[in-house]
Amino acid sequence: MSYTLVKHVHVAAAAIVVLLFLLRGYWMLTESPMLERKWVRIVPHVNDTILFAAALWLATEIGFVPFVAAKLAALVGYIVLGAIALRYGRTKAIRVAAFCASIAVLGYLAAVGVTKSPTPFL
Ligand code: HEM
Repeated sequence: MSYTLVKHVHVAAAAIVVLLFLLRGYWMLTESPMLERKWVRIVPHVNDTILFAAALWLATEIGFVPFVAAKLAALVGYIVLGAIALRYGRTKAIRVAAFCASIAVLGYLAAVGVTKSPTPFL
């Protein structure tokens, strides 16, 4: 399998992660019952699995370089913040704050991917 092909799969899945997260964030803000729909709870996990499988394949090709470690750490942060934003935040203020922080972490993940540096904004 070619590195470029898997990278395209990874980037396409990453774009879908961002779109689905923004959509679910909108439904969280508007307190929409859409958030509880079965497909809304399943499709993001399927896409996350594709993103992560492609990421692991790319990472094993290029090795455990610093930017890969940074992306793994940021991914854990995104998962925790995203779960607080969409489900576990006890007040709306907490959920909104976690949602904004999640968007920032997604931006960091994309910037690290493009620059291949753990400090993309320096
Ligand atoms: C939601 C999470 C993630 C997003 C939004 C994301 C986004 C991106 C983007 C935008 C690129 C740039 C590709 C390009 O140069 O055009 C990329 C590349 C890459 N990402 Fe991710 N990524 C995520 C998670 C991960 C994780 C967890 C890992 C590591 C385990 C990872 C490993 C890589 C690798 C190895 C590349 C290829 C760099 C290259 O060769 O150019 N990504 N990612």
